[in-house]
Amino acid sequence: MNDSTKRLLRELEIFGKAHDGYYNISADTGQFFYVLVLISKAKSILEVGTSNGYSTIWLGEAAKQNKGKATTIEIAEHKVEIAAENLKRARLSNVNIVHGDALTEIPKLKGKFDFLFLDAIKEDYINYFKSAYPKLTKGAVIVADNAIMFERYMKDYLNFVRTNKNLRSVLIPIGSGVEFTLKLK
Ligand SMILES: C[S@@+](CC[C@H](N)C(=O)[O-])C[C@H]1O[C@@H](n2cnc3c(N)ncnc32)[C@H](O)[C@@H]1O
Repeated sequence: MNDSTKRLLRELEIFGKAHDGYYNISADTGQFFYVLVLISKAKSILEVGTSNGYSTIWLGEAAKQNKGKATTIEIAEHKVEIAAENLKRARLSNVNIVHGDALTEIPKLKGKFDFLFLDAIKEDYINYFKSAYPKLTKGAVIVADNAIMFERYMKDYLNFVRTNKNLRSVLIPIGSGVEFTLKLK
């Protein structure tokens, strides 16, 4: 990652603390995802919940290191515009922003994904996951934010990933809590 992208991330961290409504992941969560993408060698990332593109920059940068790409879905038009501007500033041409409801957009996506990040409506994580599941490769990594802070809204999801025999899942106490799941087959 170059210095100007590091500066942009820092700027967005300060902006996010000063303004309500962007709900960005913590900086250490971003760093964690960056490392995870590198070690998993993921090349095709799907993010649900873009906001202003803060987490997308971490994911897109890591995908770029792997010569891969990222798709991110955001329902709010004004956030899509802000994210597009931030991704342009980060010079991430490997990221595609899809404007729409993830529940209708995920089924339309072409190709397979080896990394999935869930960060939109907590009660719908289970629905985003089930919709994306047929498009996930064997060995895909799935990370879901707010697994500690909003555990009460994600119980269906957490119960599903922790008990399904085709998945292994563990809670990572970083940021707001990240549920880290591996698709075994
Ligand atoms: C927690 S924020 C995402 C923060 C972002 N991942 C980051 O860390 O920088 C959740 C976002 O999901 C969006 N959202 C809510 N429901 C959605 C849906 N059904 N489909 C796509 N995006 C949705 C919201 O507009 C909001 O911008």
